[in-house]
Amino acid sequence: MVDRNERETDRPIPADTSRSPPEQFVEQANVSDPAIYDEFEDSWPACWERAADRLSWREEYDTVLEDEDAPFYRWFTGGTLNASENCVDRHLESGRKNHVAIRWEGKHGERETYTYRDLYVAVNEFAAALRELGVEAGDVVTVYLPMIPELPIAMLACARIGAPHNVVFAGLSADALATRMDAAGSEILVTCDGYYRRGDAFNQKSRAENAKLSLEADVRTVVVDRLGAQLPHVLGEDEWDYDDLREEFSGETVDPVARESEDMLFLMYTSGTTGDPKGVVHSTGGYLAHVAWTTRAVLDVEPEDTYWCAADIGWITGHSYIVYGPLALGTTTVMYEGTPDYPDRDRLWEIVDRNAVDVFYTAPTAIRSFMKWGEKYPDRHDLSSLRLLGTVGEPIGPRPWNWYYTHVGGEECPVVDTWWQTETGAVTISTLPGVDEMKPGAAGPALPGIGVAVVDENGVSVDPGETGYLTLTRPWPGMLRTLYDSDDRFVEEYWAQFSDPDANEWRYASGDTATVDEDGYVTILGRVDDVINAGGGRLSTMEIESAITDVDGVAESAVVGRSSDSGDTKIYAYVSTGGRSEANAELRRLILESVESAIGPIAKPHEIVFTPELPKTRSGKIMRRLLEDIANDEELGDTSALRNPEIVGEILTDRDGG
Ligand code: WT7
Repeated sequence: MVDRNERETDRPIPADTSRSPPEQFVEQANVSDPAIYDEFEDSWPACWERAADRLSWREEYDTVLEDEDAPFYRWFTGGTLNASENCVDRHLESGRKNHVAIRWEGKHGERETYTYRDLYVAVNEFAAALRELGVEAGDVVTVYLPMIPELPIAMLACARIGAPHNVVFAGLSADALATRMDAAGSEILVTCDGYYRRGDAFNQKSRAENAKLSLEADVRTVVVDRLGAQLPHVLGEDEWDYDDLREEFSGETVDPVARESEDMLFLMYTSGTTGDPKGVVHSTGGYLAHVAWTTRAVLDVEPEDTYWCAADIGWITGHSYIVYGPLALGTTTVMYEGTPDYPDRDRLWEIVDRNAVDVFYTAPTAIRSFMKWGEKYPDRHDLSSLRLLGTVGEPIGPRPWNWYYTHVGGEECPVVDTWWQTETGAVTISTLPGVDEMKPGAAGPALPGIGVAVVDENGVSVDPGETGYLTLTRPWPGMLRTLYDSDDRFVEEYWAQFSDPDANEWRYASGDTATVDEDGYVTILGRVDDVINAGGGRLSTMEIESAITDVDGVAESAVVGRSSDSGDTKIYAYVSTGGRSEANAELRRLILESVESAIGPIAKPHEIVFTPELPKTRSGKIMRRLLEDIANDEELGDTSALRNPEIVGEILTDRDGG
């Protein structure tokens, strides 16, 4: 006899089904009382004390929020604390010194474990070394390291002595590193000899040296030896070996410097509309309170958990949810150096299985790959340790959502689709997994204490289901404080569009478009600016275009995003050569090389379309919208405003032919 219920679950899941959080999850969830929304609402902004009070403060703060100088908001003022002390020392004091802090999984199967005590020793020794190298509170330390334990150690050592870190994603180019060091006025660099990339030993140190050549400042450099005999290197003047330094300062401790709540913990460069990357400034108290609170309330992490965020620490996701959030809670955070498909496509599930991972957090682009590869890979492993799944970085459609829920979570783990940005510091939109219904495809409502509105160009809220601009209507603790050295640009980029300064009403423009439904659930549609989300990070089309036009023989270029069938965004470059050129293989090679060297391999266009001219309006502006539509195979609107409408036909022929 066929069990009817069983038959039911065999049927494909309708895309728009909403799901309740599994009961056994709710029973143990860190947050399970729906009253939390009202409690936060009724006591805003004091509600955020709940987050701040989970931290160890040297001096208690006296004001939760100061808004006199909006939009330069100040959180938990009067308080002092140290992030390294919160992420390391206090867990030693609470008797958890032998609890594992970091479980590192190397690309080739190497493994390292740091207990909180080990982490304490490493952070202290490296902090002592940095001091000896002349680093003082307030000096910006640039860290250009791949996913090895020395990366979080360096970050925490900086935090310990009050030196803001400036982590540059290891896959970015020498030029990108130089630009970021220069903009931040940073004269100290922590890097490594090299690392494994696609199986090869890749020379990171030579890239760092190239960057230094273009900097005016004398840069002191610490080099971590990742590859040993695989890639021998010699140290030059003003260069120190990380292990030698550790040994020299072996056993030394450094008192964590008491930092004002508003002191900068770190800065992180991210792409904006123009070619100049923006130096997003994060504070100490508000940032740490917000990331620790969301790690607990949204990702449901507990100190006893083994938690894995499969992102790179070189982007904000890793800062907040591999390093600061989980370590502030005293949990075990997994750090993985490799890729999901090496040595095989079940690598991640093998790691989940072997480490009995409780909570797993990744990006939709990875989930779409898993789905493409098929369920046989997760099926090979015991994933029953998992309790909650998370996603971040792009919209996740109902299909990949349901695949993740079913084949990774075994229909027993809630999935949180968390919306946030480098600028928001921590999650701002998501369901609370122990409270809310999940709606696959929609991120969820604003978190308690967060204000969200989807508005038209005049700032008026649109009706449910209508597309509008996603704005945040209230300040929040993890918010960026400014753009490094550019207060004006900070106001211009994020606040000018929807605020009314005369009425002292401030509204944050996220740069995303979205819809909101009757229940307040937000569905993210995409970005409004010229930014492409790819490879876990954010790329500026202008930056890519300028690398392309650097190539001899290129007259102009326009770069747009194309959503591929798999849902990933591909980079599409239109290049005009100023005339008709047929054999462009060489030019293509030079373009790819130039983009790789200016930004990094993640920015290389997937498609290059050569054209005698770019389509332009009569006033000479490139019609990007049109190029986007062409890239996305969409119906083309009215082209009569073009100065050169005939070019559209040529591009279409080129595209379809090539
Ligand atoms: C942009 C921010 C912060 C995490 C990593 C990216 C997009 C982020 C979601 C989501 C739809 C999302 C937005 C946002 N994004 N999370 N859950 N659903 N889109 O940080 O590089 O600063 O990029 O990522 O477009 O603006 P980022």
